[in-house]
Amino acid sequence: MPHNQFDKKSEAWSALFSEPMSELVKRYTASVFFDQRLWDADITGSLAHAKMLAAQKIIGAEDLAAIERGMAQIRAEIERGTFEWKLDLEDVHLNIEARLTQLVGDAGKRLHTGRSRNDQVATDVRLWLRDEIDLIGSLLNDLQKAMLTVAEQNVDVILPGFTHLQVAQPVSFGHHMLAYVEMFARDAERMADVRRRVNRLPLGSAALAGTSYPLDRERVARTLGMIDERGQPAVCQNSLDAVSDRDFAIEFTAAATLVMVHISRFSEELILWMSQNFGFIKIADRFTTGSSIMPQKKNPDVPELARGKSGRVVGHLMGLITLMKGQPLAYNKDNQEDKEPLFDTVDTLKDTLRIFTEMVGGQPNPATGRLEGGITVNVPAMEQAALKGYATATDLADYLVKKGLPFRDAHETVARAVKAAISHNCDLSELPLTVLQGFHPGITKDVYDVLSLRGSLEARHTLGGTAPAQVKAQIARHRARLG
Ligand code: ARG
Repeated sequence: MPHNQFDKKSEAWSALFSEPMSELVKRYTASVFFDQRLWDADITGSLAHAKMLAAQKIIGAEDLAAIERGMAQIRAEIERGTFEWKLDLEDVHLNIEARLTQLVGDAGKRLHTGRSRNDQVATDVRLWLRDEIDLIGSLLNDLQKAMLTVAEQNVDVILPGFTHLQVAQPVSFGHHMLAYVEMFARDAERMADVRRRVNRLPLGSAALAGTSYPLDRERVARTLGMIDERGQPAVCQNSLDAVSDRDFAIEFTAAATLVMVHISRFSEELILWMSQNFGFIKIADRFTTGSSIMPQKKNPDVPELARGKSGRVVGHLMGLITLMKGQPLAYNKDNQEDKEPLFDTVDTLKDTLRIFTEMVGGQPNPATGRLEGGITVNVPAMEQAALKGYATATDLADYLVKKGLPFRDAHETVARAVKAAISHNCDLSELPLTVLQGFHPGITKDVYDVLSLRGSLEARHTLGGTAPAQVKAQIARHRARLG
């Protein structure tokens, strides 16, 4: 048995404690069964700290070598699944440190010089979250590319655009998809912005006040890749703040919440579009389920679940904000509660992004590399729906304005024309020219160009509008941006 290892948390503290923790309190205070996912960050952070301690001659070169050797073994044990996680050792940090000491003796006990679990855990969570943000950024790009593919294939497909869920004006389905690409692009920007503040180093703050050892915090920051936009080491500049605030986790969860809100809005549309009353699209069977009682059903389970899971991420955001609001400086154990909501937010977000990318864009065909099996669009159903509800009424008003009528009068004139069309049970474009001329004598047969869905679409050529040429320009811009 190596000397002086500790197997129980009380042994990690000191001789000060005169009675052991009850089993219930042990379970209540332990985090090892959820924070063990920080193991890689914990080892990386410890190695950077140890290297700096050796460079500063706070520990010897042989201690550093022993720590590196021990950590390599621990890493292998965890990867192999043979590492024994002990509830008695409370959390990932104490588990790894205890094993290190068991493996390399006194060198292991020197690792914690000038460090506290308070700056250690804040560093670990930041390192872990930084990598997850990078992954989420690339998943957001994958989803945007999938949506862009659908947009490209559907520039000229027309569906009704809605306001108040009432048919408003015809829009290109490609344009509709690009609305979501914009949302996910902003989400990716937000993630990149959050990353800047996540990627700063708390280590060296020790428990709360800094430490008396001559630490080189900037060196540790460099080793860990915590570098700012100017290429300088990014180090938290106030020890009390560094160990205690979890605002970076809150802002990440806020950014994640917005992604989920966007996913949820899109899900709501998919669900509507798949219903028999719309019949606009189909998604592949593997994203739907049947009913145990109604044999005809194909339910949009994946979009529904995503809409539901957005609520859970909103809940995590509220949880984290509430966790923080009453805490005095500096570290409080409350902060241990940051992990499960943060972890679940990351897991939910990554799974949702992956599944939506495949559901929307399909999977690459191994032979051609092209995406197949994504959303199937029912073009006639979309166009038929756009023909209902007098979606080109605004176009008739604009036509009259071009003939010299003030817009308000044109609006009124068209309202009378729509009323007539309703009573004839036909579309505006189906009213004979003589009838239309009864509403305004300036109307000539070129009016039918603007009353068609396509004419209406082509007319909306302002920057960001739904005219196919504009939509194509936007697709090109996004393609160039996403690579
Ligand atoms: N498991 C703890 C957490 O997640 C580590 C920090 C504990 N610090 C302390 N002073 N008890 O916050």
